Amino acid sequence: MNITVIGCGYVGLVSGTCLAALGHRIIAVDVDKARVESLRQGKVPIYEPGLSELIQAEVKNGRLSFTTDTASAVAASETIFIAVGTPPAPEGGYDMTMLFAAAKAVAAAANGPKTLVIKSTVPPGTGDQVEALVKSAAYPMEVANNPEFLREGTAIQDFMQPDRIIFGAGSNQGLSVLREIYQPLIDRGYSIFSMGRQSAELTKFAANAMLAMRISFINELSQLATAVGADIESVRMGIGSDKRIGPAFLKAGVGYGGSCFPKDVSALVHQMRRLSLEPYLLEGIEKSNHRQKVAFSRRILHVLSNVKNPHIAVWGLAFKADTDDVREAPAFEIIRALLAGHATISVYDPQAMPNSRTVLKDTVRWCDNLEQCTREADAVALITDWPVFVTVDWHSVKQWMRGLHVFDGRNCLASGRVAAAGLHYYAIGRPEIKPGKGRQGSVGVISAG
Ligand SMILES: NC(=O)c1ccc[n+]([C@@H]2O[C@H](COP(=O)([O-])OP(=O)(O)OC[C@H]3O[C@@H](n4cnc5c(N)ncnc54)[C@H](O)[C@@H]3O)[C@@H](O)[C@H]2O)c1
Repeated sequence: MNITVIGCGYVGLVSGTCLAALGHRIIAVDVDKARVESLRQGKVPIYEPGLSELIQAEVKNGRLSFTTDTASAVAASETIFIAVGTPPAPEGGYDMTMLFAAAKAVAAAANGPKTLVIKSTVPPGTGDQVEALVKSAAYPMEVANNPEFLREGTAIQDFMQPDRIIFGAGSNQGLSVLREIYQPLIDRGYSIFSMGRQSAELTKFAANAMLAMRISFINELSQLATAVGADIESVRMGIGSDKRIGPAFLKAGVGYGGSCFPKDVSALVHQMRRLSLEPYLLEGIEKSNHRQKVAFSRRILHVLSNVKNPHIAVWGLAFKADTDDVREAPAFEIIRALLAGHATISVYDPQAMPNSRTVLKDTVRWCDNLEQCTREADAVALITDWPVFVTVDWHSVKQWMRGLHVFDGRNCLASGRVAAAGLHYYAIGRPEIKPGKGRQGSVGVISAG
């Protein structure tokens, strides 16, 4: 099928390229001329493992092209996916300006009946609003919703091997178009759930809010674990092995970030309030997430309270590993709190330095590698669990540092190795380990067999 994908960001680029890999002809559109130009030259403006190679292959075989010309792309396509940003609005909820502008541009350019598929995350009811907006088009336009569940860092795999695909359509015609587009994945046995548009819109929110809730749940318990001397990693294993609960999204850390969870939970709170429904649980998720970041920075400043002009090496700025995305990254809030505590901050991230510079500017020392970042530091604060941090040689780290303190904001380091190198290890919701010591009663599985 000839398809236009509007928006060449994390979602538009990945889904457009993957749809091309499924055999469709994709015209990917963006209003950002520099972005389109760089894509045409084979330079991918975001970091996503495997994406650059896949784009190259699909451009080469003629199934994927890039343009800023929405009108001619729409005219050449039967179906148009909208994957533009829906950022948070200052007054709460979403800023839908870009999405509505894209829908209007499609309506204005339609040269025959089209199907408009909303891939951006949108509040329930948006499909109806878009339908009203495009009514003025000269030809009938079907509006459908097909929310995206990809995770940055594993986006291609998530798109090509989805847990499920959600179709939200107002008519059988919309459903059959979506079915045709995804037929190659249906043939491979992936599950499809067809539902009304509003249910599809709400499903996306519900998934993100549930995942954010699990993170906040374990984070909240990590505070209690610290207070009573329990180990949250042991508790995680204990409950995650229960089939009714499962182990995913139960890792304690510095709190969630990114362009989705914070904005989607907050938009749900906003929408429920507008409908006079008290969002008791959802508000708690946000509060708990904020406290986690505050608690992490306070703990570091407390441990370093006797150090004059403390120097802290911050490892990781991206909101998670394997991406360069720093939207709502916990690192920024933590760094601001550390700076307010009069610390000097050195930072290093394998991919997210350029995006972070526009936010942190000259408030921190920018380092080219981990060693430079860590030299003469009184403490290391790991905020993103990049593999290169997890596998570092801790004896070298000890040599580079002035102090001894290692704060593991993702509970991802081998605590024994850190302590064996003569460093003092602090995690989230786990007892600290003094230099040279091992962990008492550490997590382990005693198999029945
Ligand atoms: N990033 C994720 O992991 C993720 C996952 C699932 C869903 N989502 C949702 O998908 C949507 C897109 O997210 P993203 O992270 O890809 O955003 P993004 O900001 O990375 O990309 C959006 C792109 O759309 C372009 N754009 C804006 N208006 C346009 C227009 N009128 N015509 C053409 N291009 C236009 C922008 O220039 C930008 O390149 C959001 O609603 C988001 O909530 C994101």
